[in-house]
Amino acid sequence: MPARIIGTGSALPALLVSNRELEKIVDTTDEWIRSRTGIESRHIAVEETTTSMAIEAAKKALQDAKVSPEEIDLIIVGTISPDHYFPSTACEIQSALGAANATAFDISAACAGFLFGLGIVDAYMKAGTVRTALVVGAETLSKMMDWNDRSTCVLFGDGAGAAVVRSDESGIMSMVQGSDGARGNALTCEGRRVNNPYKKNDTSLDYTKMNGQEVYKFAVKTVPKSIEEALLKANVKADDVKYFLLHQANLRIIEAVAKRLGQSIEKFPTNLQECGNISAGSVPVLLDHVNREGMLQKGDTIVLAGFGAGLTWGATVLIW
Ligand code: COA
Repeated sequence: MPARIIGTGSALPALLVSNRELEKIVDTTDEWIRSRTGIESRHIAVEETTTSMAIEAAKKALQDAKVSPEEIDLIIVGTISPDHYFPSTACEIQSALGAANATAFDISAACAGFLFGLGIVDAYMKAGTVRTALVVGAETLSKMMDWNDRSTCVLFGDGAGAAVVRSDESGIMSMVQGSDGARGNALTCEGRRVNNPYKKNDTSLDYTKMNGQEVYKFAVKTVPKSIEEALLKANVKADDVKYFLLHQANLRIIEAVAKRLGQSIEKFPTNLQECGNISAGSVPVLLDHVNREGMLQKGDTIVLAGFGAGLTWGATVLIW
């Protein structure tokens, strides 16, 4: 049976940093950031961590779904900014929730992480091995930025979103996923420097580097194409979709996708103005905001789409 989202939750750091605040630490302006991206502020973790936000989002999603931790069979966390290499964030959530019956692991698919997680859960559910799952996207990207690099640090934010998913008669209608590792250099962040005594002069860069124009071109071409493929697979017309919830990287990308799909921009809710780009957290945080605003009715058809480093992308058509 397909996977159906039955509850959502999210968590954002308390500190909200406006573009004007950033003017004080990097050579940028509110006008530049707003006009190029639509971003007005972002939440930055001070006390919060990837794990603490993931746990908070997961608890809220369980409450929303009215599901107990013991019922969870599988926990998947999409993250590129875990607090540790190991144990995984998913195992830490399992422990914090007391979800003793779950299998738990993380996946690294950057801004498509939540979509890839949903795709894995859907496959498990269709195979009949999992009934209830938790999919989380959680990031503390602020620790991976070079705060002297104005071309990247103004774009990203921290936060976590979660969804409880259950196998049901209807839910995910189609899933399209893809990767293009050959273009991976467009958006990178090196790991920690190697300090073993046998390796000399490790020059790896520690922080996020991006070729913004390459990523922009990739997004405006690949995202509408993957959504069109997902719609075709689901036999759904774009006109019959209530909302398109896209990864919140840039308002101009979202406007370009809306235009290409021939859809009104009103059908593309956004929160990038407040949150910036939260990578794997982006789509589930937006989904939770839309859900909590009461914008979704049971039976609505919606599209979720994520894209980013890897390069990776994913799109799904689902019944709410
Ligand atoms: N403030 C002020 N000026 C800035 C700036 C900032 N924060 N960041 C870059 N600039 C400057 C550049 O230095 C450059 O100056 P120059 O012409 O004197 O060299 C100028 O602005 C134009 O830079 P460019 O990179 O060509 O801008 P752009 O129009 O391509 O916009 C992005 C940059 C990042 C907004 C745009 O490329 C983009 O949105 N790409 C997609 C990024 C993305 O979404 N990534 C995440 C995907 S998951």
